[in-house]
Amino acid sequence: MTDQRPLRVVMVGHVDHGKSTVIGRLLHETGSLPPGKLDAVAAASSRRGMPFEWAFLLDALQLERDQGITVDVSEIRLRAPGRPITIVDAPGHVEFLRNMVTGAAAADAAVLVIDAAEGVRDQTRRHAGLLPLIGHRQVVVAVNKVDLIGFSAERFAALEAELATLLAGLNLTARAVVPVAARDGDNLVAASPRLGWYRGPTLLQALQDWPGPPAAEDQPLRLAIQDVYKFDERRILAGRIESGQLAVGDTLCFSPGERRSRIASIEAWPPGTAPMAAGAGMSVGITLADPIFVERGEIASHEADLPVLTDVFHGRLFWLKPAALGRGDRLTLRLCTQETVAVVEEILAVTDAARLEALGTGAVPANAIAEVVLRCRRVVALDDGRRLPRTGRFVLLDDDGAIAGGGIASPAGHEDLRRRLVRKADNLTEVASHVGRPERARRNGHAGGVLWLTGLSGSGKSTLAGELERRLFDRGCQVFVLDGDNLRSGLNADLGFSPEDRAENIRRAGAVAALMAQAGFICITAFISPYRSDRARARQACGEGFHEIYVQADLATCEARDPKGLYARARAGKIAEFTGISAPYEAPEAPELVVDTAAMGVEEAVDGLVSYVTRVFVK
Ligand code: ADX
Repeated sequence: MTDQRPLRVVMVGHVDHGKSTVIGRLLHETGSLPPGKLDAVAAASSRRGMPFEWAFLLDALQLERDQGITVDVSEIRLRAPGRPITIVDAPGHVEFLRNMVTGAAAADAAVLVIDAAEGVRDQTRRHAGLLPLIGHRQVVVAVNKVDLIGFSAERFAALEAELATLLAGLNLTARAVVPVAARDGDNLVAASPRLGWYRGPTLLQALQDWPGPPAAEDQPLRLAIQDVYKFDERRILAGRIESGQLAVGDTLCFSPGERRSRIASIEAWPPGTAPMAAGAGMSVGITLADPIFVERGEIASHEADLPVLTDVFHGRLFWLKPAALGRGDRLTLRLCTQETVAVVEEILAVTDAARLEALGTGAVPANAIAEVVLRCRRVVALDDGRRLPRTGRFVLLDDDGAIAGGGIASPAGHEDLRRRLVRKADNLTEVASHVGRPERARRNGHAGGVLWLTGLSGSGKSTLAGELERRLFDRGCQVFVLDGDNLRSGLNADLGFSPEDRAENIRRAGAVAALMAQAGFICITAFISPYRSDRARARQACGEGFHEIYVQADLATCEARDPKGLYARARAGKIAEFTGISAPYEAPEAPELVVDTAAMGVEEAVDGLVSYVTRVFVK
């Protein structure tokens, strides 16, 4: 059976390369034009003494649509037999990109129109470059005006090869590269006898073959909780089903709180009409079997497919506000019904939406598209916007509550915190120690605590930790060093260097350090610990007596030292995800102490650390 949901198609390409002609002629070939429309436009052009152009037809249709309501995006329906197709178009680049980037008008499929005679030029590069920006990975290429290259198979093959290189560079794959002569209709809908050598699909066929996205109902359940009402003795959770389906009896998990319960009923008015199931697009009120705490903002899902929990993620956003967005800016992030403060931690790429040019990453001006890293004040539940658009889409609000930007989230590359936030075991009762911390401190002559050294590889963490341990031990302190390389050969031997593995490395190290501090030791740790949120969790695990010490040395200095020869290997591409080269290092924002090892020798640095320890641990 053919899929009857319309496939939404976006067309990109330079006007001169015939984008409008392709659309206009497609409308004609598929019989999608209103009766008499073509003749009327042809007559109008001849009255004005102009040869008929298919693009005029599109302009005429556009004009009609523009009367009445202002629309940013126009939708043109092709009434071809087989799968229906909607072409999503927009009057200008800026409007078009804003809608695409914010997800207001997403497209399932993309066509790149290029001019056979012009070949792959800068223009083509820029237009093709748009597709990854609006979330596309695949494209159908229409090589237009093949009449101008004499319908030549050889010249087409050469162009195809050039295109392959361009697309590969953009991480795009071509589902089909179709030679067309749009003005005459060749290969748009029917196979052209003038292109007998071509064995692939026509443009329409290539689009109709494109697999559509799953229907929202068939996707995993995401119910965004809007409100919790107390009604009689019952609590009714009201929300909108963004995707998927739910039924009475289903067990739901409410994220990011991660509490679970069964649906006892789906409420409806008038009483007695309560449905047993509901699906995407519906607003529902449900009651639960258990009196768990659920609040506005939470997203309910089935256990089998839960959203990602994170406090940091990549976003591709469109910035609307006249004042530029800068690094460190603080805004309100809204994602479904969740709201939290988010800080722009990094700006990775900026593209001007009008000129399609890359801009510097210093700030994001109005009408630009940017790749940013957003850090939220609290953990949010979200999805990859490419998979689940409704729970992967966010807006940023300024202080006045006005929408300043919006975009699509991509949590990939950041750690899913679910494993860390949820304790698997139930029925635990903590046992208190019979020996208190103050007693241990009295006997040792100092308090227990953690000196958490963080910094790039080669910054001097292990060296300082070792020297400090010696000096403190000689003074009679209970002291021990936990070193990254050492833990990684035992306790953490199962972990590598992905963001997830590093987070787990630091979680375990933080837990061990906390125990040592509790045992009365001064525990010195030497881990790169590149992520702020991981260090914040280590601090939380240790409680009082945690001191974050930033062992600071710039990358060039560390690389020049290269004590283990690892920078050289990383530069040669032999170590993946190497901190400072191909993986990030997030410097501490408010460490208790900074030791600048680029500016001072080991002796001086250790002296400083010894006096710091004496001050904070020896009362
Ligand atoms: S952390 O990032 O998870 O905190 P950790 O401090 O435990 O790292 O381990 C870092 C040590 O592992 C480095 O000193 C280095 O010897 C080694 N190493 C091996 N591969 C990498 C890598 N890709 N990035 C950083 N360090 C690495």
